[in-house]
Amino acid sequence: MKIQSICCIGAGYVGGPTMAVIAKKCPDIRVTVVDLNEARIAAWNDEDVSKIPVYEPGLSDVVAEARGRNLFFSTDVDKAIDEAEMIFISVNTPTKTYGEGKGQAADLKWIELCARQIARVAKGDKIVVEKSTLPVRTASTLKDILENTGNGMNFQILSNPEFLAEGTAVEDLMAPDRVLIGGDQTEEGLKAIDALVNVYANWVPKERILTTNVWSSELSKLTANAFLAQRVSSINSLSELCEHTEADVNEVSRAIGTDSRIGPKFLKASVGFGGSCFQKDILNLVYISRSYGLNEVADYWEQVIIMNDYQKKRFSKKIINNLYNTVSGKKIAFLGWAFKKDTNDTRESAAIYVADHLLNEQSNVVVYDPKVTEQQIYTDLDYLGSRAPEENKESLKVVNDPYEVCKGAHAVAVLTEWDEFKSYDWQKIYDNMLKPAHVFDGRNIMDKKALRDIGFKVHAIGTADDN
Ligand code: NAD
Ligand code: UDX
Repeated sequence: MKIQSICCIGAGYVGGPTMAVIAKKCPDIRVTVVDLNEARIAAWNDEDVSKIPVYEPGLSDVVAEARGRNLFFSTDVDKAIDEAEMIFISVNTPTKTYGEGKGQAADLKWIELCARQIARVAKGDKIVVEKSTLPVRTASTLKDILENTGNGMNFQILSNPEFLAEGTAVEDLMAPDRVLIGGDQTEEGLKAIDALVNVYANWVPKERILTTNVWSSELSKLTANAFLAQRVSSINSLSELCEHTEADVNEVSRAIGTDSRIGPKFLKASVGFGGSCFQKDILNLVYISRSYGLNEVADYWEQVIIMNDYQKKRFSKKIINNLYNTVSGKKIAFLGWAFKKDTNDTRESAAIYVADHLLNEQSNVVVYDPKVTEQQIYTDLDYLGSRAPEENKESLKVVNDPYEVCKGAHAVAVLTEWDEFKSYDWQKIYDNMLKPAHVFDGRNIMDKKALRDIGFKVHAIGTADDN
């Protein structure tokens, strides 16, 4: 079966880039991305392609090429569902903030809404693709809703989790390590799998397209994120031991990463992992395991989160301890707010939690990030509910100039590994700071020796302060 029209519900960090690349690589397929959020769709349609709502290197070029040709962004969800043979669901599945499973389970209300809408609108058979990350066995819920509330149409449900990482979304989509497609192992199910395989086969080598049963595919996505996050927590746990023993975590990373059984990636010690996926997906894994009574399994994975929370707290404590145990009334300059470089996404960014901790100690935090808006920074902080929004506005300021942000500060804290931070005129920054002038490098990107030669007191993750 050759698919000619695709619809994707959800024009976010996954739906937008994923569909843009499918449209670029498959000019014969009409791809429509829909969302309830009118402002977001308007931004995707902005004539000035640099204003699209997701910042990703290379994405605006892909959108510019395909938009209006075979890539469309719209708020008319019903029409797009009606016209498509294959419907991707790429809506948000955040951690529940209420009721049963609060703080751990995935909130599937948006997924259910999509299923009900597809069932109501569909006048022909459809292939429904889970692109969102979902708890294992969600496909059976979807099938139940589609079959019980629909108009008697046939639906095949596929699981096709997305493995792109933000900041490298376009390159990850253009040349993925693998594409995973799970589906029913029936004749109809295999036909549906084949239809999706053929879409990806337009640019992904066949041996990189893995097909499985639907449950393996759903569970593999949670598992992949849990394994990646576990590596970061493992190296972060060792970073503290390094700080006490004069071992250097960067050297330890390199030493263990050259063992081909371990591998070099995801061994960078940091202020803690952030992003919309790792924490949410591990919490979900913990919740699912507990719901089957597997308490040891749940505890094992929960420790990855506990370690990550500890690492963020440890970083703010390090700042406080080195500023003579008080930051009250002191200006601390933040370089970076995004959860990693090359993205404007701030969800679960370590910077939010470090700022919150310092604000509790009555510090004045001033933030510069090359891609994150002032409004987003206040939204992130207000969401924690630690203090009134007016208080957040009073104690935390956002500045558009990296030199201005550091002026008169006691300390600079590097929270995101943006490349531009390394090439600043650090002598000029030093001259305009209060003394002793501290740099706390939460990403281990700075040249420690060069900074110390200028006169800075430099504190990195996973090395003793005089190392
Ligand atoms: P997002 O919040 O950026 O985008 C989701 C979009 O869906 C929003 O714009 C929202 O308005 C829209 N939406 C919600 N309900 C809708 C409905 N009923 N009809 C129409 N639109 C609706 O989220 P995201 O980061 O793109 O993540 C989407 C899914 O992909 C999640 O399950 C996530 O876990 C998964 N995922 C994310 C990443 C990542 O790096 N962000 C990577 C892989 C997988
Ligand atoms: C992650 C997965 O990598 C991706 O496959 C999945 O589809 C979505 O979740 P993402 O969250 O976008 O992607 O970014 P990722 O590169 O995984 O980084 C997550 C966090 O871990 C960031 O805060 C990053 O700074 C941190 N990290 C990563 C480290 O602290 N050290 C590392 O070695 C790697």
